[in-house]
Amino acid sequence: MIPDKAPGEDVLHASGDFKKEAHVPSFEKYKELYVKSVESPEEFWADFVKDFFWKKKHNGKFLDYNFDVTKGEIYVKCMEGASTNICYNVLDRNVNDRKLGDRVAFYWEGNEPGDEKTVSYRELLQQVCKFANVLKSQGVKKGDRVSIYMPMVVELVVAMLACARIGAVHSIVFAGFSAESLCERIMDSRCCLLITADGFYRGDKLINLKLIADEALQKCREKSFPVEKCIMLKHLTKEDEGTTPGSLSPPAKRACPDLQVPWNSEVDMCWHSLMYDALDECEPVWCDSEDPLFILYTSGSTGKPKGVLHTVSGYMLYTAATFKLVFDYHPDDVYWCTADIGWITGHSYITYGPLANGATSVLFEGLPTYPDVSRMWEIVDKYQVSKFYTAPTAIRLLMKYGSEPVHKYKRDSLKILGTVGEPINPEAWHWYYNVVGEKRCPVVDTFWQTETGGHVLTPLPAATPMKPGSATFPFFGVVPAILNESGEELEGPSEGYLVFKQPWPGVMRTVYGNQQRFETTYFKKFPGYYVTGDGCRRDKDGYYWITGRIDDMLNVSGHLLSTAEVESALVEHESVAEAAVVGRPHPVKGESLYCFVSLSDGISYNQKLEAELKKLVREKIGAIATPDYIQNAPSLPKTRSGKIMRRILRKIASNERDLGDVSTLADSSVIDQLFENRCSTAV
Ligand code: WTA
Repeated sequence: MIPDKAPGEDVLHASGDFKKEAHVPSFEKYKELYVKSVESPEEFWADFVKDFFWKKKHNGKFLDYNFDVTKGEIYVKCMEGASTNICYNVLDRNVNDRKLGDRVAFYWEGNEPGDEKTVSYRELLQQVCKFANVLKSQGVKKGDRVSIYMPMVVELVVAMLACARIGAVHSIVFAGFSAESLCERIMDSRCCLLITADGFYRGDKLINLKLIADEALQKCREKSFPVEKCIMLKHLTKEDEGTTPGSLSPPAKRACPDLQVPWNSEVDMCWHSLMYDALDECEPVWCDSEDPLFILYTSGSTGKPKGVLHTVSGYMLYTAATFKLVFDYHPDDVYWCTADIGWITGHSYITYGPLANGATSVLFEGLPTYPDVSRMWEIVDKYQVSKFYTAPTAIRLLMKYGSEPVHKYKRDSLKILGTVGEPINPEAWHWYYNVVGEKRCPVVDTFWQTETGGHVLTPLPAATPMKPGSATFPFFGVVPAILNESGEELEGPSEGYLVFKQPWPGVMRTVYGNQQRFETTYFKKFPGYYVTGDGCRRDKDGYYWITGRIDDMLNVSGHLLSTAEVESALVEHESVAEAAVVGRPHPVKGESLYCFVSLSDGISYNQKLEAELKKLVREKIGAIATPDYIQNAPSLPKTRSGKIMRRILRKIASNERDLGDVSTLADSSVIDQLFENRCSTAV
């Protein structure tokens, strides 16, 4: 339970000035609101509900649910009976009712310094309406799935909100995923249309996105799932004269007229030509609270990604509330989340949460290290960013270059710093707090998942004394517990499985098309609880500390990957008989991929094979899954029943000689050989 008073020792407190105007100004206030949020959710959420427009009000309970598999099907329903539209709420309501049409929605900053564009709420609404009409003209209807595979451009936000406006379900695939991964996701959610772009630059590297998208569509065709509609945004290639009225994409400084874009006129359509004729008004389609809003794929321990499904009203309330309270949003803020919209952080905290609050955000296409390692701080200074949200991996990367690149720019505008995606080590936390935030800015270490929709364990900046490395306490409506292996709830200081005892509005509703998998993954192990898959420790003051994944999942640079997914890519190579992948601690990425491969009889290991294996994994999954180490392992450590002992492989990967209990190992002689063949440098 949450203590009555926050501890006074071993903690850092936010400065007094900023507390005065904070939405939740003290720990006592947090505690009072927390109790209300758990005991009377309807009353607690009423304040947020009234901020939105409802075509029809809800008639049943605020939250209706079953979280216990032994009592029947798992379900969560929030505000059943209500009807609304999230796009209307994040745009029309701001422009028309709140008179914020002229307010900047996004400062778009391209990969290349100087490539920039400012988009107001009014312009965004107009573009979204036009594109919603384009989708309608292509036959897209409420409930249809639309796949979006785009770089970080304003049109990505336009595409997702246009789907939401007409009740279509967006399924965004991060533009770093391979053709194979895109094809798998398009087929799993049975999308009827793909939206993509010609290409983009990541730093110096040119990515021909359309080529990859075409390859994905070709694969879909071969697997008898033809998607014969593809809308392509010209982002790098030049526009034809006269086809770009009100275009949001500025001519890229780094324009690339020579980019060879494959084009199939039976399938492909040009974004700008379609927009040219589209009307700029489009009545929103009113949706039920529990109508699907989007699908977003996340790694699953079987290797096949899970289509996490979120629905309209609960997600809208939850992202709006967490954004407002965790970043203590005020109208004069300029907010910047550096995540990609292809991940949940971008969905919740670049698009929906900030826009629901009428916030002004930076939307950044580039990299923290391009053209140099000061880029982030240059952008903070340029736009006078006050709330800044990034990942520990980016902090650790920039920390390597010391404080000088940070000091080159002023950071007076900064008020709150946030992190997300993986545990932050205290050293990185302190650097972020001391060097970036000049000891002025509280750090909110936000723990959450694609599945949770928004923050679930997090400090509130003015209320929660900070402990570096701890995500501190639950957000409103969230009830965490720590269980031991037998499923017993542990009290007081303890360590075990992190679970949640009841739903909150933003929790996922199902795995798209596979309710059974939803129940098995999250609810079977401990009936009555949602199981996060993360380990967690609670200290004597009640603070929660995430210790990392305890399933077969790896967290590389804040991105979850399943070991099974990488293994199945490796064994597709004809020379590989078996593969086992584990995480090895990495100073910047958090974890790196260490792969053990057993080769087929008669095959010998060499550099050519190593390069082929790396390439294969990149092609199958994407660059984020590229192996850092590949070790030739003629035999793998197995139990007598043939199960690979990953615990031992993890120790070998990080060269830890103390292996603990190895009595279940079938043949202990493999261990020495594995240690001998260890890779010490990355491939
Ligand atoms: C990890 C990202 C420690 C965790 C929003 C979780 C964290 C997984 C934190 C979800 C944090 C995220 N401290 N670990 N503050 N935030 N994680 O679905 O293992 O991409 O289960 O969602 O990231 O990753 P996902």
